[in-house]
Amino acid sequence: MRVVIRDNPEAASQYVAEHIIHRINAFKPAPFKPFFVLGLPTGDSPKRVYSLLVKHYKAGHVSFKNVVTFNMVSLPSLRNKDEYVGIPEDHPQSYRSFMYEYFFSHVDIAPEHINLLNGNSLDIHAECLEYEEKIKRVGGVDLFLGGIGPNGHIAFNEPGSSLASRTRVKTLAHETLLANSRSFGSDVHRVPRLALTIGVQTVMEAREVVVIATGANKALALQKCIEGGVSHMRPLSSLQMHPYAMLVLDEEATLDLQVSTVKYFKSTESVMNETG
Ligand code: GLP
Repeated sequence: MRVVIRDNPEAASQYVAEHIIHRINAFKPAPFKPFFVLGLPTGDSPKRVYSLLVKHYKAGHVSFKNVVTFNMVSLPSLRNKDEYVGIPEDHPQSYRSFMYEYFFSHVDIAPEHINLLNGNSLDIHAECLEYEEKIKRVGGVDLFLGGIGPNGHIAFNEPGSSLASRTRVKTLAHETLLANSRSFGSDVHRVPRLALTIGVQTVMEAREVVVIATGANKALALQKCIEGGVSHMRPLSSLQMHPYAMLVLDEEATLDLQVSTVKYFKSTESVMNETG
């Protein structure tokens, strides 16, 4: 696991955006592998990354013509097994609206290259299985960009999720409902309790995973995931087992790490810079 630390959220987002652009530009489409496959999150942390990707696209530094995307999560239309919430795809709180507002509407990605879990599908379980199949059909995910929940979740894989899990319906943890309530007028009772999410194993099968985490409210979860052991109680810690995982943090997000951990990861960067 690589940990990159930047002074503030802007610098961390810039690092991530430039890394993604570098990967897309380095990708050479071939008949057997025509698309770069990018996994994407929602949430506040990636917003700056999306805005920088848009800025670089407008400046002609990157194109998304050869990019296929898969979003990590979706909220279904049921708050629990029998209470209809109904978040139509064009609802401002739907993740589809979020992705179009912050990213897709502003770049040259083809609509048919955008994949989002349909939370309003009549057969949600079939929807989840089909999503995994779609990922396989395009040759797997090249780079998954993710965030972390304050409880250590990745996507919506809450504490206790199987580390071998795949795309499925998950019950959201109370702290996630509280975090999501900001989009529902701060009323936790209006927040859907279930979500569709790719699994931990789905993330682990990506060729590369990059996580952006900023702010002091992520510090404790990050400390557990970076310095603690691999545990299903902190699903993001599974990235310790991934050959190409990188966490990009701002200083505040490192607040609960040991000084020696922070110094070590900072030193790895300066050594890499010195040795090229
Ligand atoms: C949601 C998303 C996660 C994201 C997390 C953190 O739970 N499903 O993918 O990592 O929010 O979001 P934020 O960046 O807003 O703190």
